[in-house]
Formats: sequence, C-alpha cells, structure tokens
Amino acid sequence: MEVVIVPDAKAGGELVARGIADLLRHKPHALLGVATGSTPLPVYEALAALARTGRADMSQVRIAQLDEYVGLPSGHPESYRSVLLREVVGPLGLSPEAFMGPDGTAVDLPTACAAYDSALAEAGGVDLQLLGIGTDGHIGFNEPCSSLASRTRIKTLTQQTLADNARFFDGDVDQVPQHVITQGIGTILEARHLVLLATGKGKAEAVASAVEGPVAAVCPASALQMHPHATVVVDEAAAGGLRLAGYFRHAYANKPEWQGL
Ligand code: PGA
Repeated sequence: MEVVIVPDAKAGGELVARGIADLLRHKPHALLGVATGSTPLPVYEALAALARTGRADMSQVRIAQLDEYVGLPSGHPESYRSVLLREVVGPLGLSPEAFMGPDGTAVDLPTACAAYDSALAEAGGVDLQLLGIGTDGHIGFNEPCSSLASRTRIKTLTQQTLADNARFFDGDVDQVPQHVITQGIGTILEARHLVLLATGKGKAEAVASAVEGPVAAVCPASALQMHPHATVVVDEAAAGGLRLAGYFRHAYANKPEWQGL
C-alpha cells in the first residue's frame, strides 16, 4: 500500500486525476470505477480540466458505479446514478452508454446485484477504482463487519452513515434510504488498482485504522491492505492519525518518477 499525503483536497484531486489520465494514455478504453459523496468531486473537476486542455483523452473511457441507494425513484437527484450523470458523465462529455451501474429500483434486488457483479467481470473488470472512506471505515457502502469476501449485494446503512449522508437530503436523516446496493469488498478487491481518497479531519481516525490497524471486517477499508496495488491519498487533516506519516512522506518524496501513481 502506498500512502501519499497532499496539502489539501484540491491537490489530492489533481494527483488522482493525473493518475487516471496516465492510465487512459496506456488504456484508452479503461473501465474506471467511480465513487460518489463529497470527496471525489475535486478529482472529477481536475479530470474535466485535463480533458478540456487535451491532457486526458476521455473519448473511450467507460465508467462503473460503486454503490446505489435502494428505493429512490429513478431520476431522483440524489440517486447515485443521477449524481454521477451530473458530476461525471456530463462534465466529462461521456456517453450515458459508457456508464454502468446497479439497478436500485429493481423488484428482484438479489438478481440485480448478481447481474451487476457479473457485468463488471464481463466488461473486463475495473482498471482503477476510486474510493472514499466513511467515518465508520466503510468503502462503497460496505459497513463495518461486512464480509471481506463479499460480492455485490444489499446492505443496511449504519446510523452513523445515515447521519453523515443526511446533508444530501435537506439535513433530514429520515429521508436517507436505509438500504443500498454496494459492490462487495471481494468485488472491489478485483479492480486492478484501488485509489482511496480521504480529506478532512473527520476521516483521520478511519484512515489510521484502515492503513495502520489490523485487517479486520470491523474496518472494511482495511481490506486495501490485501490488495497488491492500493494507493491511499490523504490531505494533511485526514493524515492526522497516521503514526508512520513521516515515513510515507519520505517514501513519496523519493519515489522514482517512472512508477507513476
Ligand atoms: P464523503 O463519503 O466523501 O461524502 O465523505 C465518503 C464515503 O462514504 O465513502
């Protein structure tokens, strides 16, 4: 696992966007796993800027959704499909056909979950999966004590996540759907490169557990320790709980350029 400490969220977004642009230079039709929430927005902004100035070729990229609320009507502005159409597909000028995601409105949810899990593999697998981290250590919507081998399935959100996400629903926790579809931890670990971005001091404790704690289902993000190519990008505030911060800074400062992200 590589941990990169950046000054702030904007610098983190630019670093990750450059990493994605590099991937697209080698593999223009890469399947990019995209996350929602506030954290990845600077990545999408930086990527749009690179695309506008001809430094990222988004013409063949495909994108895959990480998770989705269950039960929001199709087209609801806070469904993750709507958020990604608004924040990623539109600004990057992608075709909606290049975008795959689970169906949170399906009547038969277990079948929809299994179908999405298979569709990811049939699409060749995710090349780079962008991840946020919940204050409770979740990745995707894999809440604490999710199986580290889990596949795409339905989960019930913790009270902490419901409270964290109420800001997207007029501050009303009762409007946040209780149930979600999420790629499982086992599914996420199949992506070729995992890039977890965390910003703000509210994430410091979860980041420290994920990076320096034991691999344990109680902190789902700790599963990244099992992945051969995982990059954790944190701003100074989110790095606040890392014991090895000095080492991480030293390693990154001395990293050979050819290694990329
Ligand atoms: P946030 O969400 O980026 O809105 O903090 C992160 C997450 O829940 O994965």
